[in-house]
Amino acid sequence: MAQQSNFELRRKLLQLEALYDVGRALNTLRPEGELTEELMHRAIAVLDAMVGFVFSLDEKLNVQQIFTFGVEIPAPANAILAEPPIKQVLASREPMSVTVSKFLGGAGSDLILAPMISGETIIGIIGVGGKEERGAKSGSFVEDDLRFLVSLAAIGGAAIDNARNFYKLSVLRETLEDENRNLKQRMLRDYNDRLMIGDSPKMQRVIDLVARVADSQASVLIRGESGTGKEMVARLIHGNSPRKDGPFVAINCAALPETLLESELFGIERGVATGVDARPGKFELAKGGTIFLDEVGDIPLALQAKLLRVLQEREVEKLGGRRRIPIDVRILAATHRDLEQMIEKTEFRQDLYYRLKVVEIVLPPLRDRKEDIPKLVRFFLDKYGKREGLTDVRITQEALQKLMRYPFPGNVRELENLIEGSLALTTDPVIDPGDLALPESASGAGGVEMLTDFPSLDELERRYVTRVLTYTKGNMSKAAKILGVDRKTLYRMREAMSQLAPTVDSWDVH
Ligand SMILES: Nc1ncnc2c1ncn2[C@@H]1O[C@H](COP(=O)(O)OP(=O)(O)OP(=O)(O)O)[C@@H](O)[C@H]1O
Ligand SMILES: [Mg+2]
Repeated sequence: MAQQSNFELRRKLLQLEALYDVGRALNTLRPEGELTEELMHRAIAVLDAMVGFVFSLDEKLNVQQIFTFGVEIPAPANAILAEPPIKQVLASREPMSVTVSKFLGGAGSDLILAPMISGETIIGIIGVGGKEERGAKSGSFVEDDLRFLVSLAAIGGAAIDNARNFYKLSVLRETLEDENRNLKQRMLRDYNDRLMIGDSPKMQRVIDLVARVADSQASVLIRGESGTGKEMVARLIHGNSPRKDGPFVAINCAALPETLLESELFGIERGVATGVDARPGKFELAKGGTIFLDEVGDIPLALQAKLLRVLQEREVEKLGGRRRIPIDVRILAATHRDLEQMIEKTEFRQDLYYRLKVVEIVLPPLRDRKEDIPKLVRFFLDKYGKREGLTDVRITQEALQKLMRYPFPGNVRELENLIEGSLALTTDPVIDPGDLALPESASGAGGVEMLTDFPSLDELERRYVTRVLTYTKGNMSKAAKILGVDRKTLYRMREAMSQLAPTVDSWDVH
């Protein structure tokens, strides 16, 4: 007798511990499948059962997750709902105990079942059967066993409900985030009615960053290859900033010789030289707005020092003047150059670099986000189609494929010019491969050559630029148009190439 109650006590303790463990284990959010599996194992182990099942139900009372032990999982899973004891628990929502039930086609055994309920809804049912003989107990379930199963079902139901709510919340959060991103994109589009296109994850990150940084006063350094949209980003930042009603003043630091650049930036005081009128600099003109220092990597070293001083002191001193004029501008800068390498070669000041690069936005080259090409093509087709008076312009699949294969050294600008050019050439509103003036190798025609010849992108660019320049007999404007880059960029390319191929130097410049 004493031994018997001792055994009872131990069993109760075991069950309590198991409940405690399960409560803790189920409290960590896990997929529903794992939760049901965990429930099953605990029930089998604690209740010394030989068979068991657990399943969860969705809102329409279809089986969502099912896990069995010692019996087959029925196919389809919903078949389990036809078993008489289960039907009964579903209807009554009460636990129950059945003596000798032929459950799921197995041998007859005792069965105890409990509904998993959360609030008003039934979330599933758990049941075990076939009590093993152990210790002094004979093989049948007792009142305590059922109580344990009911408690386990309650904890399990709450855990599954939690996990589901969490999932619903995270779906909701993702939807909200999507909506938020769309709003941001729409906001970016509204300025000047220009749309920054790019659904690729790389561009999404850029657009997110642009939208976030626009609000602030932080200096932004915009980087990326030629034609990737650096200026567009600068305009978007300004247009969506608190300074949007002020001026946006851009200056191309690569286009002017040093002294001219200096007076353009900082202005000239009357009388500095005869015949020169006093002139405000760009910093003054940008008052209340934004200054965009384009090609900032091309500023000569001496001028870099002056620029740094202006940025630090937020004052400019005009050429030939003694007065210091306070500046009220936000500073955006852009470059395609490798500033870090320039710093190493002491061609660019590190202190200036850190001033400009409070936030950095890097625009990925088009060849790294080819999935954006179709949408960009669509956009430019509409834009230039409208201008040419064409409605409903289309592009054939082959033509689009041809574009997808091309590496676009001139990036989005090259694509834009290409589409513009193709619309000027085409006679009907359908762009086919023949309307696209791409280098031959991109059409896939020179198959044999392509199999053995794998030039690097730089080399390919060099060859292509050479080919185009030969074709235009060295006419830079024509060549720039074909290449889809501006003349300045073409000069730069040619300069870089001249070190590799001295013959390029002999071209006439028009
Ligand atoms: N994501 C984009 N969506 C739509 N148009 C774009 C996009 N990116 C660039 N463009 C267009 O491509 C052209 C080139 O862009 P932008 O002038 O901003 O490039 P950039 O990086 O400043 O080039 P560069 O280094 O040669 O000065 C512009 O006409 C611009 O409107
Ligand atoms: Mg630019």
